[in-house]
Amino acid sequence: MIIEEELNNPINKYLNTIIKGDCIKVLSLIPDNSVDLIFADPPYNLQIQDNLFRPNNTKVNGVQDNWDKFSSFEEYDKFAIAWLKECRRVLKNTGTIWIIGSYHNIFRVGKIMMDLGFWILNDIQWYKTNPMPNFKGTRFTNATETLIWCKKSETQKKYTFNYKLMKHINGNKQMGSVWHIPLCIGNERLRDEDGNKLHSTQKPEELLKRVILSSSNIGDIVLDPFFGSGTTGAVAKKLKRNFIGIEKEQNYIHIAKSRINKINTFLPELTIQVEEKLTQPKIPFKALIDENYVNEGDTIYFKKNKELKATILKDGFIKYENKTGSIHKIGSIIQKSESCNGWMNWYIIINNKFILIDDLRQKYKQEKEEGK
Ligand SMILES: C[S@@+](CC[C@H](N)C(=O)[O-])C[C@H]1O[C@@H](n2cnc3c(N)ncnc32)[C@H](O)[C@@H]1O
Repeated sequence: MIIEEELNNPINKYLNTIIKGDCIKVLSLIPDNSVDLIFADPPYNLQIQDNLFRPNNTKVNGVQDNWDKFSSFEEYDKFAIAWLKECRRVLKNTGTIWIIGSYHNIFRVGKIMMDLGFWILNDIQWYKTNPMPNFKGTRFTNATETLIWCKKSETQKKYTFNYKLMKHINGNKQMGSVWHIPLCIGNERLRDEDGNKLHSTQKPEELLKRVILSSSNIGDIVLDPFFGSGTTGAVAKKLKRNFIGIEKEQNYIHIAKSRINKINTFLPELTIQVEEKLTQPKIPFKALIDENYVNEGDTIYFKKNKELKATILKDGFIKYENKTGSIHKIGSIIQKSESCNGWMNWYIIINNKFILIDDLRQKYKQEKEEGK
């Protein structure tokens, strides 16, 4: 169902698209406080100088791409400050952000995030169950990458964390901050006809599944400013979230688009999330009257139809013609069905605009959680 504000919301034109360009410029087009979740897999600044060979003399295909090259740490930091500032601006006040990186960049990025006002919720260790060996034997095998998960500020009270769902998919044990996930291999790895990787740093979908499931809800907007092969978009689609991708290389945009277009199935975790939502504490319609979100005597309209109107009564019921009942009961009488979700069908007019009753319920919930 589209409600009026959605039609007028300028973010909607970017939903489920990949925008070509430098992310700092593209982010500047996106309105303030408009996305629910950001996942960013920025350049690592690996500073690879020489080619690396295995003991059998075959060349290692590491990250040698131009997009990963910066002339100095200062240049890298300047870039990181600019895109992180923009991310903070476009993130909703209820949103969170994830950044993934290796030891080459993640500490710099973490410091910059703290300086910009982000507040760290977790640092997740992605433990690679099949890491690339240290061929020279000069250091430990580098088997981890870090994901920093932050809210916008220390004082932000509300953000999404689907705790129960994560516990459920973790065999009914609290999920910890070390995630054992293999590198992206096998059928999931995108390759050309000669078997070459289509993107040097394609992330495993399992990683994005945990990120998106834990910190967003169905219908939310997930933005990725370094979209690459489109892993974020692919998983968002499989979990019924909206995505916005930004990528500067046309070739990767092409790869990501065709990957996402082919998706026609959803992940099974979706149904678990729906069940969790249903068990959230119920808010009675009367609570909205008691707290003056609506008032006794106000008129509400079924499906925005001005002919189908009811009056709000003091006790939380509504009166439609000569019938009295809950918003759900009267809704089901009007549409001649066994049941009706009144929250999603009744509207009230405020400032000449139809406002869905469920929007007032969400506002009530949010303000209660924020202790207003
Ligand atoms: C580490 S990769 C992301 C890989 C992605 N997570 C995946 O699973 O395929 C970083 C991507 O960001 C892109 N990129 C680098 N700098 C950029 C910039 N300033 N603006 C937009 N995209 C950029 C690169 O072309 C590259 O595809």
